[in-house]
Parts: sequence; C-alpha cells; structure tokens
Amino acid sequence: VNLNEKAQLEGISLLEKLFHHLLMNTEEGHEALEYLLDRGFNESQLNQYHIGWALPGWETASKLLEKKGFDLSLMEEAGLLIKRDDGSYFDRFRNRIMFPIEDAKGRTVGFSGRIIKPEKNEPKYLNSPESPLFQKNTLLFNFHRARGPIRKEKYAVLFEGFADVIAASETVSNAVATMGTSLTKQHIQQIKRLTDTVVICYDGDNAGTEAAFKASRELASSGITVKVARLPNGMDPDDYIQKFGSGQFKSEIIQHASSLMAFKMWYLRTGKNLQTEDGRLSYINAVLPEISSLSSAVEKELYLKQLSDDTGVSFSSLEEQLKTYLPVQEDIQVRNEPIAPPPKKTSILK
Ligand code: UTP
Ligand code: MN
Ligand code: MN
Ligand code: MN
Ligand code: MN
Repeated sequence: VNLNEKAQLEGISLLEKLFHHLLMNTEEGHEALEYLLDRGFNESQLNQYHIGWALPGWETASKLLEKKGFDLSLMEEAGLLIKRDDGSYFDRFRNRIMFPIEDAKGRTVGFSGRIIKPEKNEPKYLNSPESPLFQKNTLLFNFHRARGPIRKEKYAVLFEGFADVIAASETVSNAVATMGTSLTKQHIQQIKRLTDTVVICYDGDNAGTEAAFKASRELASSGITVKVARLPNGMDPDDYIQKFGSGQFKSEIIQHASSLMAFKMWYLRTGKNLQTEDGRLSYINAVLPEISSLSSAVEKELYLKQLSDDTGVSFSSLEEQLKTYLPVQEDIQVRNEPIAPPPKKTSILK
C-alpha cells in the first residue's frame, strides 16, 4: 500500500470511530440515535455497521485530524475535508447520520451521510466524492460481509439502497447494494465470482422498476440467472421490513422472487389496457419476441399459456405467430456453423 493511501485509510478510520462514538454515547447524537431506532435499526446493527453521527459544526473533523498530525490535503483528497479559499479546511460531513462504506477487503474507504429531515435544496444522502479509494463503479455495499453467505446460499440479493441491506441483515445476509449508480460490468464480475444467481430486489416505485429491468438485462447478458423480487406498490425493502419484519420479508418477498420472464411479462404489461384490442396487441407484440428468445421448449409453452390467459387469444394462434419471430442472433450463428466431424481416433498427432 502506498503511504498516502495508508494515511487516508487511517484518517477515515479515525472519523468512523469518532462518528460512531458521538452517535452511541453522547447527548449531541441522541436525536439521530432515536431516529435510527425508530426506523427499526437495532443497537447490534448500529455497531456491526459502525453507523455514526457527524456534528453540525464546521471543524469537528478537521480540528481532530490536524491535532493527530494528519496531512490535511490528503484528507481533502479522501473526501473528508473541503478546502477554503484562504487555504484552511472544513468538514464535508456535518449534521448527518454517517454510514461507513467498506471496500471488498472490509476497509472503510468513504461515507454516505444522511440528513435526518431532508430538504429540497440538499441531497438526502451525501456521498464521499470519487477518489482512488472511493469508486462507486466498483463498490458494492456489504460485499465483504456477504461473500461467505452468498457462496453458502448459492445466490446474491441485490438491493437499491444500502439502508435496505442493513434493514434486511438479520435474515438476509447474502445481500449487497450499489451506491446509487446503475449496475456496472465491474459490479457484476465481482458477484459472478461467487454465484451464478442474483435476486434483484429494488424499490417498488417506477424508478426502482425501470432500474430492475435494466439491471436484469445486464445480469442476464453476463450469463447470470436472474430472479426478481417485487414489493407492494411504493414500498422499498426497508419499508416492508419496518411494517412486516425481516422474517416475513425473506419468506414472502425474497423466497417468492419470480423468474425473469414472469417479471418481464409483468413489466411489459404495465400501462397497457388489456381490456382493449390495442392494449392486447401491443402486449402480445412486446412479449412474443421475449418468449421466442427462450431456449427451453417447456418454458416457451409455459409463458405462451400465460400470454394466452392474459389476453384471451388462443394458444394455437399465439404459437403460430411465434413462428414468425426469428430466433435471436446467437442462435442463428450457432445453427449456421458447420457441424464439426468427431475427431478420428487414428489422429496423426497420436
Ligand atoms: P433511496 O432514496 O431509495 O434510499 O436511494 P433509501 O435506502 O430508501 O433511503 P432511506 O430509507 O430514505 O434512508 C437509493 C440509493 O441511492 C443513493 C444511495 O446510495 C441510496 O442508498 N442516493 C439516494 C444518493 O446517493 N443520494 C441521494 O440523495 C439519494
Ligand atoms: Mn463498532
Ligand atoms: Mn429508490
Ligand atoms: Mn429506497
Ligand atoms: Mn428506504
């Protein structure tokens, strides 16, 4: 490790301890602690995830880092401080609940700070800025803790918010979340080293549904088996857990995740009125290409049957129509490839 990076990790770690102490043991942190307990986080989760509180003052962290002899310009690069025009430094994170963000090795590399009562002109969550240590395109929240459980359970759960990961942690330990960015190839590669199955459980609002659809395509095209867990309208995993508990969340939502095709049919159906001819036709035209790209004949039949039930169009007509769709590109290439003759036993290379 280079020395600058080492100092930055130490600075971050010092602040993590300060914030956690302020939340758990001080009068100044009391309101934040009440808020967190009210929304269902328990003390053991607060300790396990080292959640903390940053005071409202401008120079709590900067004064401490200075006193301990840290190079403040390095702390600025690590995203902890901001430089004023006169060359002095002030704290980036003030008056926020602090969630440490750890990398794949379990080292805290940054923070996401939540305002208790978000207002329009300020982001609800303030993240560490991008730096050599903090890269949202590769960071998966909780990855270092979830690695073992993902291998053991043989699947990973993907959430939209890290608060959902913490809220679900008592029953769902094989979970990770992106840091507010869309899912990247680097995220997928990390998951793929552990498992070939991912359950997407994004928020039950429009943004979450769109993001889930996009993530499902990225994951599937990387060869991952995708399932999608859907929440009641407008709820996110954390809302559901607050209302029904994490036991029910696991058994009713995660373990009832639907297949990718069932999710696609539901998604393609939303906004279409199947009472009208136009609605039925456009639904059928959206779903048939998806069905035609399935490789299993059994699955094709299953979803054609479903489509027939949804629209009232006979199975045989849909089957007839399905034949007009060309197989997806990969299939064509495979079929056009000349079949290689079996290798002869009497090879000259023998
Ligand atoms: P959400 O708004 O769904 O977060 O954003 P949440 O987990 O439900 O938060 P609570 O329950 O209100 O506390 C999902 C993710 O998007 C990123 C964060 O990573 C968050 O976990 N985000 C969201 C930001 O980075 N900044 C924001 O202002 C909001
Ligand atoms: Mn702790
Ligand atoms: Mn959301
Ligand atoms: Mn949410
Ligand atoms: Mn939430």
